Amino acid sequence: MSSKRIVIVTGGSQNIGLSIARRFQKSGATVICADLNPPQDNSLNFIATDVSNEASIMAMMDQVEMDFGHLDVLVNNAGICIETPIQDTTEQQWDRVMDINIKGTFLTTKHALRLMKNPAATAPAIVNISSIEGLGANPLHAVYAASKAAVAGFTRNTALEYGPYGIRCNAVAPGWINTPFNERLLAQYPDREAVDTEIEALHPAGRLGVPEDVANTVFWLASSEASFITGQEIICDGGRLAKLPLPKL
Ligand SMILES: NC(=O)c1ccc[n+]([C@@H]2O[C@H](COP(=O)([O-])OP(=O)(O)OC[C@H]3O[C@@H](n4cnc5c(N)ncnc54)[C@H](O)[C@@H]3O)[C@@H](O)[C@H]2O)c1
Repeated sequence: MSSKRIVIVTGGSQNIGLSIARRFQKSGATVICADLNPPQDNSLNFIATDVSNEASIMAMMDQVEMDFGHLDVLVNNAGICIETPIQDTTEQQWDRVMDINIKGTFLTTKHALRLMKNPAATAPAIVNISSIEGLGANPLHAVYAASKAAVAGFTRNTALEYGPYGIRCNAVAPGWINTPFNERLLAQYPDREAVDTEIEALHPAGRLGVPEDVANTVFWLASSEASFITGQEIICDGGRLAKLPLPKL
């Protein structure tokens, strides 16, 4: 597989997205971060994009087509979370989360497909970032959970519809990954040190995740080594979801 693949990472300017962008860049790929804000690392290409806005996505894809002609890999990573009880969640909050997490995944995929069907694209692959919260529940995350479960469903349908064009589509469902994304949840616990130890103990792998764990999984899924894998959601959570809770002995 050519190392000169053209890769778009939405939300690629920080944390998990940035780590994914760097993983592809390390392999020699040309990476475009499609984000609201630019990455601090200016060795990455940046196109200002709002994934909740179709016109913005179309403008970004036109730019990629003009600069590179085709697209080999799309990583739909941009996502947000809110912390609210269902009764207090406003229609605007619901729409905002859905607009970015699932509508953004849909619209970016929709407009990327044309560039990925270009004969110059090599073994094109889409990787969506879902979450273990689409598979199990955390308190106050109902909207986020619904959006991420929807990403998993959309992944399977993309694989089915575009498999005949040689395009694979999979999702990575990260568990607890140490980024500021989780800070709002952690801030609710009075004893921060105790909660860090307790969260670590939930993981059979014996540690919390780091952005590179997700980046390596995404990179592998987009590679020829995963050429027979499509329509799947790969859990990257240090075994957290596999562990059934029991009272302490
Ligand atoms: N951190 C975790 O523990 C964790 C766990 C499971 C899943 N995830 C998922 O991983 C992805 C990245 O998480 P993170 O921790 O790096 O989050 P983050 O908030 O640090 O980064 C998200 C990025 O998306 C960008 N973004 C937000 N709205 C956008 C929009 N409308 N258009 C374009 N870009 C936009 C932000 O600017 C930011 O660069 C998200 O989809 C998140 O749901 C994270």
